[in-house]
Amino acid sequence: MGGPTVALLLLSAAVVAVSAQACRETKVAVLGAGLTGIEAAKSLSEANIKDFLILEYNDEIGGRVKHTTFGKNAEGNPYTIELGANWVQGLGTPGGPQNPIWILAQRYNLTNTYSDYSSIETFSTTGATNFTELLDEFEDAYAYVEQDAGYILTEGLQDRSFRSGLSLGGWKPMHDAAKQAVEWWEFDWEYAFSPDQSSQEFAIVNYNTTFYQFSDGNNYVFDQRGFNIFIKGEASTYLTPNDSRLLLNTVVTNIAYNDSKVRIDNADGSCITADYAICTFSLGVLQNDDVSFTPPLPLWKQQGITTFDMGTYTKIFLQFPTNQVFWDTSYQFLLYADPTTRGYYPVWQSLDAEGFLPGSGILFVTVVDDQSYRVEAQSDEQTLAEVMAVLRTMYPNTTIPEPTAFYYPRWTQEPWARGSYSNWPPGTTLQMHQNLRANVGRVWFAGEHTSPEYFGFLQAAYMEGQEVGQAVARCVLGQCVPEVHYEDLRGTTQPGDYNPANGWTVSSFLTYGFD
Ligand SMILES: Cc1cc2nc3c(=O)[nH]c(=O)nc-3n(C[C@H](O)[C@H](O)[C@H](O)COP(=O)(O)OP(=O)(O)OC[C@H]3O[C@@H](n4cnc5c(N)ncnc54)[C@H](O)[C@@H]3O)c2cc1C
Ligand SMILES: *[C@@H]1O[C@H](CO)[C@@H](O)[C@H](O)[C@H]1NC(C)=O
Ligand SMILES: *[C@@H]1O[C@H](CO)[C@@H](O)[C@H](O)[C@H]1NC(C)=O
Ligand SMILES: *[C@@H]1O[C@H](CO)[C@@H](O)[C@H](O)[C@H]1NC(C)=O
Ligand SMILES: *[C@@H]1O[C@H](CO)[C@@H](O)[C@H](O)[C@H]1NC(C)=O
Ligand SMILES: *[C@@H]1O[C@H](CO)[C@@H](O)[C@H](O)[C@H]1NC(C)=O
Ligand SMILES: *[C@@H]1O[C@H](CO)[C@@H](O)[C@H](O)[C@H]1NC(C)=O
Repeated sequence: MGGPTVALLLLSAAVVAVSAQACRETKVAVLGAGLTGIEAAKSLSEANIKDFLILEYNDEIGGRVKHTTFGKNAEGNPYTIELGANWVQGLGTPGGPQNPIWILAQRYNLTNTYSDYSSIETFSTTGATNFTELLDEFEDAYAYVEQDAGYILTEGLQDRSFRSGLSLGGWKPMHDAAKQAVEWWEFDWEYAFSPDQSSQEFAIVNYNTTFYQFSDGNNYVFDQRGFNIFIKGEASTYLTPNDSRLLLNTVVTNIAYNDSKVRIDNADGSCITADYAICTFSLGVLQNDDVSFTPPLPLWKQQGITTFDMGTYTKIFLQFPTNQVFWDTSYQFLLYADPTTRGYYPVWQSLDAEGFLPGSGILFVTVVDDQSYRVEAQSDEQTLAEVMAVLRTMYPNTTIPEPTAFYYPRWTQEPWARGSYSNWPPGTTLQMHQNLRANVGRVWFAGEHTSPEYFGFLQAAYMEGQEVGQAVARCVLGQCVPEVHYEDLRGTTQPGDYNPANGWTVSSFLTYGFD
């Protein structure tokens, strides 16, 4: 009985010795080469800290800004379509604050066109049916919700669901399919969750800080080099081609931390020891335990991670023969009101429209949340059959050809993403969000999900990346200021809590005269 035990002990001692020896050393390990990681390393570089390594699961940088090739153009070459981020949301006004993503879009000459949300044709089960007047009705209620959210914020009141605000504002879609479709287009299509699942206060903060601070435009990017060209461009300002500090195809499996070091173990058996780590993995990755922490993260951190929501946003692409385009290409958007299921293939977007890719025959439809999970779980054939049945409902008496190309991503199944972007649930304080954001000793966290104001948007990743890079640079230089976190949480956020220590950088009504 003694033999195998001794052998096992010897073996495990040997494994520890070998892997301890093999660890590559660095000052800062940047985990993830999405926009947050690339901006964080850029900040380190600008603070003259060049001793860092960037570890990335995929074979290229960009993360959730991801494209693929799809269909064919007249010359037989494929189109590039964006599976993840697609719009620059909130641009800027001359002399006013600019969305940093808009500045980068211009710097890298990204091909883009203004998305005109008023260019919309509406459909019911009897075909084209004009219910656009409901958009104004929703917007009247929205005006109530945003003002009410302002009171919640300034008076330190308890947050409620966005649904509560809409209902008090007089918007009650109930069993009206057209109203449900309008609500989905106005809300779920942006937040990837319903108003019932979303914070009234922070959904409005999120809208205000982007669309009132910068400008209310959304520009659709369809650059055939891929949207992520701007992130690669940012990286090239401090990384050389084939820079040995960028470790692609590197899957982090465990992050071990103590008071003096962080050790990162990867799926290929390699490891890194670092003075600090910046973890930019998505909220979905953190929630799904794709990466383990040793010791396990403290309870306050786990509470932050489990309280917020990871949304899923699925674009389903179809290409039809160019000479058989059956929809009215003068509209950018088509909105379908399903009679029984809210969110069933509701928003269709035509790329075969002026200013986009005319002649492409490309149409895509978006679903989110439970409908995303449903289509992810079924085969392409099943989903295609459903999509075609909806199109035949929208266009009765019209011959609809079979598409020549069909594709959609399965975001929740990607182990490096586990969904699309984060959302703020009702009744959750800024302090709880700060627990999601705060560092745990030498492990710092940043990403789209750690911004309390711009969460979900590219500008969140950009700003949080820069911020965490600067904070960790101070640590390396011996002036570390740990971030605040909260052990005991109560139900409200008080006015004085909206400060930079909690990640709050700009008042959501500062710039446009709240009374
Ligand atoms: C479908 C969809 C639509 C969107 N639409 C828009 C939009 O129109 N406009 C907008 O502004 N934003 C949009 N977004 C959000 C935007 O894409 C994100 O806010 C942003 O890209 C997040 O950047 P990040 O660096 O925080 O995270 P990520 O891009 O996820 O970067 C994290 C990186 O970590 C890597 N990683 C994860 N796990 C591991 C591991 N175990 N080991 C090593 N590496 C790992 C990942 O591969 C990834 O590269 C959309 C996102 C999606 C998915
Ligand atoms: C963008 O276009 C301008 C004008 O054509 C050009 O001068 C510039 O080099 C381009 N920038 C990039 C990053 O391609
Ligand atoms: C629908 O009706 C509105 C007026 O309520 C009108 O402005 C709009 O152009 C109509 N849309 C379509 C697609 O006919
Ligand atoms: C959002 O902006 C509107 C319009 O300026 C304002 O009335 C409201 O108070 C703001 N709400 C929040 C939470 O910032
Ligand atoms: C970088 O790597 C690619 C492929 O691995 C190679 O083709 C290219 O020459 C390399 N560039 C430099 C500057 O080393
Ligand atoms: C901290 O972690 C490092 C890296 O894993 C290890 O070498 C070191 O011995 C640890 N220090 C303590 C005090 O546990
Ligand atoms: C479709 O055809 C039927 C029968 O000819 C007709 O009653 C109906 O109005 C048509 N529908 C549309 C939307 O054209």
